[in-house]
Amino acid sequence: MGINEPLNRKLRMALVGGGQGSFIGRVHSIAACLDNRAVLTAGALSSNPERAKSSAPDYGIEDSRAYTSYQELIESELALPEDQRIDFVSIATPNHVHFEVAQAAVKAGFNVVCDKPMTYDLAQAEQLLETVQNSDVVFALSHNYTGYPLVRQARAMVLAGELGEINAIRSRYIQGWLRDSIESDDQKQAAWRTDPTKSGAAGAFGDIGTHAYNLGRFMTGLLPEQISCHLKTYVPGRRLDDYGTAVIRYENGALGTVTASQISHGRHCGLEIEIDGTKGSLTWHQENPNEMSFRRNGKAHQILVPPPEPEYQDRMGAGVCRLPAGHPEAFFEAFANIYIGAFDDMVKRAAGQPFDGRDSIYTNCYDGVEGMYFIQQCVASSGQDAAWVPLRHEAARR
Ligand SMILES: NC(=O)c1ccc[n+]([C@@H]2O[C@H](COP(=O)([O-])OP(=O)(O)OC[C@H]3O[C@@H](n4cnc5c(N)ncnc54)[C@H](O)[C@@H]3O)[C@@H](O)[C@H]2O)c1
Repeated sequence: MGINEPLNRKLRMALVGGGQGSFIGRVHSIAACLDNRAVLTAGALSSNPERAKSSAPDYGIEDSRAYTSYQELIESELALPEDQRIDFVSIATPNHVHFEVAQAAVKAGFNVVCDKPMTYDLAQAEQLLETVQNSDVVFALSHNYTGYPLVRQARAMVLAGELGEINAIRSRYIQGWLRDSIESDDQKQAAWRTDPTKSGAAGAFGDIGTHAYNLGRFMTGLLPEQISCHLKTYVPGRRLDDYGTAVIRYENGALGTVTASQISHGRHCGLEIEIDGTKGSLTWHQENPNEMSFRRNGKAHQILVPPPEPEYQDRMGAGVCRLPAGHPEAFFEAFANIYIGAFDDMVKRAAGQPFDGRDSIYTNCYDGVEGMYFIQQCVASSGQDAAWVPLRHEAARR
């Protein structure tokens, strides 16, 4: 079978962000190219024009395609013949830059893979969704944890009714790296994440609370109704929350909790979720992503491992496990699973075939709007001593 049939070529990628000293841009470049379906061709890698240029050889990007700004990237790529031009733009900049890059890329007709949270605020997210809806581009949002095989299996099990009626979702993302004020020492990743002009209205809740919330939504498909949230800032002088807990009322009466912490000693990326249904309960932890516990009273506990059982495979997205059982796959591969879902649709688009940009297996612009609404409503509730506020946005999908 050819690469990306019927296109029969690799998709050409541009990366915005990911310059020297940065974090997630490198992950995007590896994840996108893992399955030999894309090649990193161009980039505007840094906000610093010199670093944007000097970072390009680290990625094997030719100097002629190493741009000093995203504006130059889009303009210059549009001027190239179609058979050389990029197909998609991946956005790995701090949050406040996502919107302008994504808007410009979509308006220029390029597909987009944007990191989370999707924008700086809800108004930008809604505007971006409108732009995407008025275009024919593919738009993926890298809520990468939804790419894990067992996370997708959990979703398939819940939707198939194997847990019964869902009563409770406990989701938390616990880190400890911001226990001290490392932003005062200008630590790059800490500096913008604790700056309300760059991060957005929330700190820990915007950065990792959105992942925890999205995971519960993805695994259960339950639509939310209301939220009550307490955000706290424990590190003196910090301008955004570094800890918080929210309670969510779901449509069917289920209760959810989301806790996010950046101040817990010794914790790294403790994203953990438990789902209780009337027939069974599930637990999954991203630091041990290849085991999921499935428990039913009176029966032996089961530890589920990838690859998924055949009955789940058709609902998980093709190719989400790349290796025979027992060879651990993890962060890069899950990230790549967002990409391969988006690539399938990019290929369809290029071939003039229809694709479903709303109910996609990969997280998308609709999920991005919901994430921004979640942040806005958490901050609003917390500002009113954890009053209940609405959480259902019309963009929410099951
Ligand atoms: N999905 C995940 O698991 C995950 C993990 C980490 C970060 N993120 C998200 O990824 C984004 C980046 O986070 P990070 O930790 O990699 O940040 P970072 O500070 O390490 O890197 C940001 C990069 O963007 C560049 N940049 C800033 N403005 C730019 C502009 N106008 N044009 C081009 N480049 C520009 C910076 O120079 C830097 O190279 C954030 O939105 C964050 O929330 C997601």
